[in-house]
Amino acid sequence: MLVALLACSLLAVASAGNFYRDFDITWGDGRAKIVNNGDLLTLSLDKASGSGFQSKNEYLFGKIDMQLKLVTGNSAGTVTAYYLSSQGPNHDEIDFEFLGNVSGDPYTLHTNLFSQGKGNREMQFKLWFDPTIDFHTYSVLWNPRQIVFMVDGTPIRVFRNVESKGVPFPKNQPMRIYSSLWNADDWATRGGLIKTDWTLAPFTAYYRNFNADACVWAAGRSQCPAARNRKAAAGGAGAWMEYEMDVASQKRMRWVQRNFMIYNYCTDRKRFPQGFPPECTVA
Ligand SMILES: *[C@@H]1O[C@H](CO)[C@@H](O)[C@H](O)[C@H]1NC(C)=O
Repeated sequence: MLVALLACSLLAVASAGNFYRDFDITWGDGRAKIVNNGDLLTLSLDKASGSGFQSKNEYLFGKIDMQLKLVTGNSAGTVTAYYLSSQGPNHDEIDFEFLGNVSGDPYTLHTNLFSQGKGNREMQFKLWFDPTIDFHTYSVLWNPRQIVFMVDGTPIRVFRNVESKGVPFPKNQPMRIYSSLWNADDWATRGGLIKTDWTLAPFTAYYRNFNADACVWAAGRSQCPAARNRKAAAGGAGAWMEYEMDVASQKRMRWVQRNFMIYNYCTDRKRFPQGFPPECTVA
């Protein structure tokens, strides 16, 4: 009884993030740290190891926000991965990966989406700001009809539910949030041409203001916040479960894709000589 009450009150306040409560540090032998009473999490990378963490909860639909401040200066060869993933061979996954660069050259934001174990849906962007100076908010809005990748509230990419065209959509497997900072200088920066400068180690990435307005997986089922709470959390602009992109957001997304997209699998003819995947032909 007491446990049930406690669980209820935890669910009710689950949106005001605290890293101690919401996450476990999973690897890095002390290189990942939760500080400031749980308000800030830092990951670090040196020549011996990177580090990482994962959410305690699994989620099935929601709007999940995290603020990140990326490795500053010469971050060549470093990769900061921030993603949602389920488990098993037919897993679903929603990826943000930030590929570091030499000082003054832009990071690449690499995104991908796996459904039923199948990915190959890469889209890459530059950002319209320097992601190492301040914190910026990276969000996933995930409901049964679409998955929207957002940066500071601006949609950069949408994956619509086109099960009607035979494309599986992530909607049955709960996902955990994962993040890690690691070295990939064999491919990350300019395709591996630029190596990590280890004299600059340790490299550090910062996380704060986690917010999951989401359905939490517990005891084999998904427990969603009440509709009125979802609405409140969306700032009255509409609840994420019912979210459809409005005209203004579509315009913003087109602006990003026109000006900052550097790779889109849906336009890579060499890769799909027999025709693009079905989801590519949906507006
Ligand atoms: C790094 O900067 C170079 C030069 O602007 C650019 O070609 C490259 O795509 C950037 N990102 C990565 C991850 O190499």
